[in-house]
Amino acid sequence: MKNKLALLGGLSVNEFLRDYWQKKPLLIRQAVPAFGGLLDPQQLIALACNEDVQARLVTQQRGKFALQQAPFEPEDFSRLGKSKWTVLVQGINHYLPEASALLKRFSFIPHARLDDLMVSYAPKGGGVGPHFDSYDVFLLQGSGHRRWQISAQTDRNLIAGAPLRILRDFRVEQEWVLEAGDMLYLPPHYAHNGIAEDDCMTYSIGFRTPAYQELAEQFLVYLQDRIEVDGMYADPNLKTQQHPSEISTAMLRQAEQAINKVRWDREDIANFLGCYLSEPKPHIFFEAPGQPLSLNKFGQSIRKHGLQLDLKSQMLCHAGWVFINGEAHRANEPDYPLLRTLADERTLPALEDGLSGSLELLYQWYLDGYISPI
Ligand code: SIN
Ligand code: CO
Repeated sequence: MKNKLALLGGLSVNEFLRDYWQKKPLLIRQAVPAFGGLLDPQQLIALACNEDVQARLVTQQRGKFALQQAPFEPEDFSRLGKSKWTVLVQGINHYLPEASALLKRFSFIPHARLDDLMVSYAPKGGGVGPHFDSYDVFLLQGSGHRRWQISAQTDRNLIAGAPLRILRDFRVEQEWVLEAGDMLYLPPHYAHNGIAEDDCMTYSIGFRTPAYQELAEQFLVYLQDRIEVDGMYADPNLKTQQHPSEISTAMLRQAEQAINKVRWDREDIANFLGCYLSEPKPHIFFEAPGQPLSLNKFGQSIRKHGLQLDLKSQMLCHAGWVFINGEAHRANEPDYPLLRTLADERTLPALEDGLSGSLELLYQWYLDGYISPI
């Protein structure tokens, strides 16, 4: 982590984390030299028209923004003519191996923080307006040029009733025009506005910062399937009460004691977090192999050639547990380092030494479409 990286403008990862990450923006000229982009506007529009893909189309007319959500038809784009518009497509890493490879360059940030790669295309003048995100984001310029304006302002008031989150009073403090390979890092809540200077494609590598409210609510959902509280309400010594409609203190105390028996420990929280953070978004579906190999053939194949995660799979691990696509599995102890490498690298080379008991687990993941032999 001490090596100086072009990706971080000549900073080491440690320097970047210390001085910029979650603290202040960083403009990096030629972070990815010769970056020509991974797809062209037509390919991006074709993806936006795929019904499994999350995409948005933002149009501007006389300074007013309008928003349309996928699914789209190609005609939605051909009729836009000379107006100002932009299309934004989420989860490109789920569809393009090159996009997944691009994300690997950002592996100095833990996978648990990664959201996805979003790609936008806009003809001249297009953009989504001044706003802030609750994400850390690296905005990598593909083809064309984008003018980025940013502001450290703390006024986060939005235009009421607008279909998009647009800042009511955006005060530009710094601005630059980015060209292919340039990159801008922005911490969460940093106000920004990107305007296409010409035919422009921008790659947003986003890192999520879950809100505590959401974490706590989802933890309770997770817990509800796991809690065990014995016994039932009993009142053999019931006393008469003046108002039958009143919940008595005795009843309240009994309920309180029962609810206080709900317990959880750090392992529950780790398991919840692993499941929650690896849970695929609702529109993600995995495809089972058409003609699956037998368990034996699958074993032979991965021993000889290795295996890889499906592009849509999300895999995390913690202290002997592995989490894949919202599921928690206790790893067979000798196999944990290997499974962790799969989670780190998204691929495993030929498993010549075999596996100590995790073959069935991997086979199940293969049948579920989570992994495939190479
Ligand atoms: C874009 O690519 O146009 C928008 C990215 C962003 O501002 O978050
Ligand atoms: Co943004």
